[in-house]
Amino acid sequence: MITMSVKKLLKSELANFEPRRRRMSTSDSSNAHVLWGGDTLDVKIPKYIADSVYQAIIDGYTHYAMTGDPDFKNAIAKYYSKFGATIEDPVKQVIVNSGGSTGIFQSFSALINSGDEVILFDPTYSAYPNVIQFLGGKIIKSPLTEDKSGHFRPDIEDLKERITPKTKAILVCTPDNPTGCVYTKEELKGIADLAKDHDFVVVSDEIYQEFIWCDKPHFPIISLPDMEDRTIVVMSFSKTYVWTGCRVGCLISGPSLAPYISKIPISLGLVPGAFQRAGIVALEQGGGFVNSLYNRYRGVTEYCSERLDDMSGVSCAMPEATFYVWPDISGTGLSDNEFSTQLWEQQQVSVRPGSLFGEKGKDRERLALVEPLERLVDAMDRIEAFVNNL
Ligand SMILES: Cc1ncc(COP(=O)(O)O)c(C=O)c1O
Repeated sequence: MITMSVKKLLKSELANFEPRRRRMSTSDSSNAHVLWGGDTLDVKIPKYIADSVYQAIIDGYTHYAMTGDPDFKNAIAKYYSKFGATIEDPVKQVIVNSGGSTGIFQSFSALINSGDEVILFDPTYSAYPNVIQFLGGKIIKSPLTEDKSGHFRPDIEDLKERITPKTKAILVCTPDNPTGCVYTKEELKGIADLAKDHDFVVVSDEIYQEFIWCDKPHFPIISLPDMEDRTIVVMSFSKTYVWTGCRVGCLISGPSLAPYISKIPISLGLVPGAFQRAGIVALEQGGGFVNSLYNRYRGVTEYCSERLDDMSGVSCAMPEATFYVWPDISGTGLSDNEFSTQLWEQQQVSVRPGSLFGEKGKDRERLALVEPLERLVDAMDRIEAFVNNL
């Protein structure tokens, strides 16, 4: 029998990746709590948004929508202005795409030449590293530091030391997944000053901008002086409208940088015209829906962080934002992988080991609070029973 290595057929960067780890899913057990990924499965988009997709198809929005619907781009710019950023020329500066993942791929495709360095904070959202490596970039990690209240913060001095002549970009995620940290204006100003002094780009992933629980407002780094043409903002409708499967998002960048990003040949990132029209409806009429999500996520985040913090061997700060909690489980004596595996085997609660987000996550778990409160009460009871039995 001839054994052939598929890896030899592949682009070398891809061949070096491990195949995707199978996440535990609801199909593993109907009685399970799957708090693994950020998709709130019980929430349906409002009927008036769904109807607008159908209406747009009837109205003929069924043709190529290559460069993005200008009305949609204008609606996005108007929405984004509520955070204090002015987009002078939305048709040029807003690049419609199929969500945050596409936006991350597009951004780094526009920036990375083989061997270029990209700074990521540690911990960081787990999808960034593969994209950078796939494109031939080198990842440089700058650890976030934990403050007295248990929140992870960027260390501008450490960041400065990681910069080299090969630094091409830094990825900033605010509000942050997995730590739930909201970057302050001063922290973002510190990062922007480094980008200007050392001539690199900030890729600013802002997809959780609506779900902030602390008193710090969301601040767009692109609005700082001279940052427009060295910032790429990644936006997505996936979380704001619980619209993960519809695949709608965009990039926002400066008038000189954006036209180059638009040239990246990824037509698979296009968004069907009817969904772009529905995006306008969501932006203009979806405030009440987003508000109901805000109240729900805030409630479950407060409840679960308190419950976890009271458990033996676990400490958990209320995150500043997002519907993720990030408990420290080092007091249980288990590693993050042991905790996650044993919790699943014994209690059918699926949580993500912190080290999947980087070395600094090795004492942590990340829980996506994507179930309604009634179900999360049971999930917390099970986690408590698990840690009490250790
Ligand atoms: C920080 C961050 N960026 C990007 C994405 C990808 O978003 P999308 O579903 O729009 O591709 C996610 C998804 O969880 C995320 O957490």
